[in-house]
Amino acid sequence: MASDWLPQRCGKVRGMGKSFDIGLERLTGAGVPPLGETQEGGLKPPLQDAGATGSTFYLETFGCQMNDHDSEKVAGVLLARGYRQVDGPEAAKVILYNTCSIREKAAQKVFSRLGELRPADDQEGKSLNTEDTEKEHRVHRDGRVMEKNHPSLRKIVNAGGGKIIGVLGCVAQQEGEEIFERAPWVSLVCGSASYRKLPQLIAELEAGNRRVTGLDTDTDETFETEITRRDNPWRAYLTIIEGCDKACSYCVVPFTRGPERSRASASILEEVRRLAEAGYSEVQLLGQTVNSYADPSAGKMRFSELLATVAEVRGIRRVRFTTSHPRDFGKDIVEAIEAHPTICDHVHLPVQSGSTAVLRAMARTYSREEYLEKIALMKAARRPISITTDMIVGFPGETEKDFEETLSLLDEVQYDSVFAFKYSPRPNTPSLKMPDAIPEEEKGRRLAILMDRQREIQRVRNEKLVGETFEVLVDGKSRRENQWSGHTSSNRVMNFASPERELLGDYVQVKAVSAMPNSLVGEMVGRA
Ligand code: 5AD
Ligand code: SF4
Repeated sequence: MASDWLPQRCGKVRGMGKSFDIGLERLTGAGVPPLGETQEGGLKPPLQDAGATGSTFYLETFGCQMNDHDSEKVAGVLLARGYRQVDGPEAAKVILYNTCSIREKAAQKVFSRLGELRPADDQEGKSLNTEDTEKEHRVHRDGRVMEKNHPSLRKIVNAGGGKIIGVLGCVAQQEGEEIFERAPWVSLVCGSASYRKLPQLIAELEAGNRRVTGLDTDTDETFETEITRRDNPWRAYLTIIEGCDKACSYCVVPFTRGPERSRASASILEEVRRLAEAGYSEVQLLGQTVNSYADPSAGKMRFSELLATVAEVRGIRRVRFTTSHPRDFGKDIVEAIEAHPTICDHVHLPVQSGSTAVLRAMARTYSREEYLEKIALMKAARRPISITTDMIVGFPGETEKDFEETLSLLDEVQYDSVFAFKYSPRPNTPSLKMPDAIPEEEKGRRLAILMDRQREIQRVRNEKLVGETFEVLVDGKSRRENQWSGHTSSNRVMNFASPERELLGDYVQVKAVSAMPNSLVGEMVGRA
């Protein structure tokens, strides 16, 4: 199946292809190399040809797994309406950016992309106010023109052809119509809850409207349907809960994705069955706080019951879920994992800080000790559970002692992977007004120390796995002959050798022969 597609090895920004886990974006966003190389192994879907007639779209995705999956929904909606997807903006009638605003750098990226599309004769736009685009403006004004960097993109807009340029996702939701002020060549701004309306919004533009928006946040229209265009032939993503009610003091998500809305359990299960019938063997249940799932139907299935029921669907061999919030993480979830080998032995449980004082300032709703109780539940499980986390360094007021408590938490928990970020002040968030900001340089220092410490922990942990045999779902083929890659149930990347001609999508047994901090190297020893 699709054996001629090689995995994309960069998860930072995606055009047509895929990158699978949140992590790479997070780590590269933090300006450090990824620790969790569990991030990818995706396959590009075949592109549909851009014909001379019919509407075409180009879709580029920034940010997390939720955004990746949202893009699958957007593509599905447009394909179902007869649009064709193309792999570059040049051939597209509609250019869409699905954006991320979790940290400032991520949000800036889209404005710098939009700067690339600025028409040469545009006098209207305000400064896009990002480092990249400011630089481009200067270059532009003194005559050394942007073509130097982006010739094709400049031609795209200047060639006219009535292209529609749209901003989707979190930046769209956050900035709203302000985007039209900053980049007047944008004509469509649409948040994640309104993607089903996209064809209608585009039709309005084609009918002569200059600007359209879809900015509701509290609809449940974000849940996918049979038309979601899935990029990965084996792993299917499924949003089971949208939005977030947790209100962490640093986070924009409650503003950009709105309040929590859960999808009815029967509808989720029906879709899982359909996916299994269509040949997907792995499902990943998604939500900003996936384990806060609250079944809106009469049955009121708990998250752990939903997990168990999904795990029992015939044809499903792996069930993953992300991201869990510590407050709603209980013994019942660990028991579901223990009882169902199909549920992967991996839990992503963001802690953010090892200091109770900082956790309080972050409004995380738990102390260090309470978090450690959740970790203890997993450590006591009958089968080993791989634990990963997110951490923020340099939160306002974080003292050296607080930071040391974060480091000691690393030692205590022994995470399998950590996604670490420098604190980034975000619009509208309570922490924006907090005193005692940490200088950027100091944040960078703390981040580097944290990453070094964690890298060593991972190296030691992975080395202990050498000699063990793992079941691997093969999802990547290297350009080098006989080299493959895939993920273990614990979500580790396994690179391995095998002379087999075709393995993509297969479950195989691989013996680890050496270890790196972010991946294992192995040899195939049989089929699973
Ligand atoms: N600054 C830095 N990191 C952040 N995250 C969320 N908001 C911010 C912010 N303002 C991180 C958290 C979260 C992950 C998705 O992104 O660690 O778990
Ligand atoms: Fe943001 Fe906190 Fe909600 Fe996670 S739980 S999405 S960090 S507000």
